[in-house]
Amino acid sequence: MKVKRLAAEKAVEYVQDGMIIGLGTGSTAYWAIQKLGEKVQKGLNIQAIATSVLSEKLAQQLGISLISFDQIDQIDLTIDGADEITSDGNAIKGGGGALLREKIVAFASKRFIIIVDESKKVDKLGTFPLPVEIVPFGFEITMKHLSKLGCKPVLRINQREPSITDNGNFIADCRFGNIESPEKLHDEINRIPGVVENGLFIQMASNVIVGYKDGEVKDFRLFDS
Ligand code: 5RP
Repeated sequence: MKVKRLAAEKAVEYVQDGMIIGLGTGSTAYWAIQKLGEKVQKGLNIQAIATSVLSEKLAQQLGISLISFDQIDQIDLTIDGADEITSDGNAIKGGGGALLREKIVAFASKRFIIIVDESKKVDKLGTFPLPVEIVPFGFEITMKHLSKLGCKPVLRINQREPSITDNGNFIADCRFGNIESPEKLHDEINRIPGVVENGLFIQMASNVIVGYKDGEVKDFRLFDS
């Protein structure tokens, strides 16, 4: 908890007055939103787009003003967590089921900062089951197509029913083991009709901020915008 908070607060240092900010989803992004709320209450002027209904509600409670895509062309900075991340900044996201909105928001952002605790760092992606958002129609056949790519997809369940995303879709969690070529897998998955998006975030992060148990926080800058 503390480690996630440290990483999140480091990322918030990049936020400047007047910026449009993308708000991530999950227990690490939660701390970034909290910190932003604190700063807004002290006079920081920002507008935000949230990656989930949950984060949107939190932002509203904290007095962060929200904006929508019909009012902007670009987001200045998005801060979000990840489930697994490699040293080149490629990540698996979607453990919290928000991967589609997270990818839309990240892709629209000039700078995308991923915040994690050290447990999320891996040499190769794929131990964490890759979340894939699929439409309910024909989900059984979509899952069969996913399995042909080398995983055993598991439909995400919530209280005995399929878990429904903020976009009204299902999630198939696909454990691939080591993913040797994330780019190739990303494209193969998204070519399947019925797949809306997958949780591989390839070459999207501009920074990765990692919190360590001993209290250290490292900011890895992958590219500057
Ligand atoms: C939600 C996400 C989260 O960023 C990811 O699951 C990490 O969550 P947490 O910060 O709680 O460990 O992708 O869809």
